[in-house]
Amino acid sequence: MGRYTNMSGYYDVIMTSGYYDYPKIVDGLINGHAVGHVLELGCGTGLIIEELARRKPEVPITGIDLTPEMLAIAQNRLRPYQNVRLQQQNVCQLALPHQHDLVFSYGGVWYFVVEEGQAPFMVSHIPTHEDNLRGLEKMASHIATGGRLMLGTQGPHFNYQRPIANGMVYSQEIEPIESGFIKHYFLDDGPQRVMAQTIHYRTYPFEQACAMLAQLGLQADAAAAQTPASQLFIGFTKT
Ligand SMILES: C[S@@+](CC[C@H](N)C(=O)[O-])C[C@H]1O[C@@H](n2cnc3c(N)ncnc32)[C@H](O)[C@@H]1O
Repeated sequence: MGRYTNMSGYYDVIMTSGYYDYPKIVDGLINGHAVGHVLELGCGTGLIIEELARRKPEVPITGIDLTPEMLAIAQNRLRPYQNVRLQQQNVCQLALPHQHDLVFSYGGVWYFVVEEGQAPFMVSHIPTHEDNLRGLEKMASHIATGGRLMLGTQGPHFNYQRPIANGMVYSQEIEPIESGFIKHYFLDDGPQRVMAQTIHYRTYPFEQACAMLAQLGLQADAAAAQTPASQLFIGFTKT
């Protein structure tokens, strides 16, 4: 399972050193639309929810995440926002008291890798196919009819290392496997390795991902297969 325990204490500084652009993510998520009840799957330390809650204080927002250490940081960050609720839950057993108008995940449980000139593919933090089916079914059951599912996009993964804002060096290594890939995350402070985290990802071809979602009443937006790399989310509507 995609637990981020080892990385949690360094997650914010890695992500805000240019890995993700949170204001841009929220621009892409809202994109001028009215927003009702919102649910983020895999909210991590709450960086997206913070940006969203600041802009939309009237909107009820729920965040769930599997990793208690990530969620503890989110709880602390989001305490000032009365409209935010957080829960430690695995999406495969998701149980919330009501449905949502907008469910999204960005770098969270599921996302798409988009590369110019190639069909996108779906990446999942859930390693087994059976658990993916279970999680997708639970997720879909929490979206109201006419509601939206927005799954984030990312560029292709590759090996690299670079300094981050606190002077440490972040690096990542990708190891392809039959069902997807393994990603190793490292943080080094001079000669000392302060963090190592390994996550197993399962991947699905775009057609298969859309078929699994369509079975659950989630229809991909027109031309989703041709999503440009500049678009931060691929959208689905619950019928
Ligand atoms: C890369 S982080 C993304 C966090 C946040 N969305 C952000 O953009 O900063 C992925 C998060 O997904 C969570 N996650 C992975 N598998 C999960 C599952 N089955 N159920 C709930 N959360 C999960 C991890 O615990 C981790 O916090």
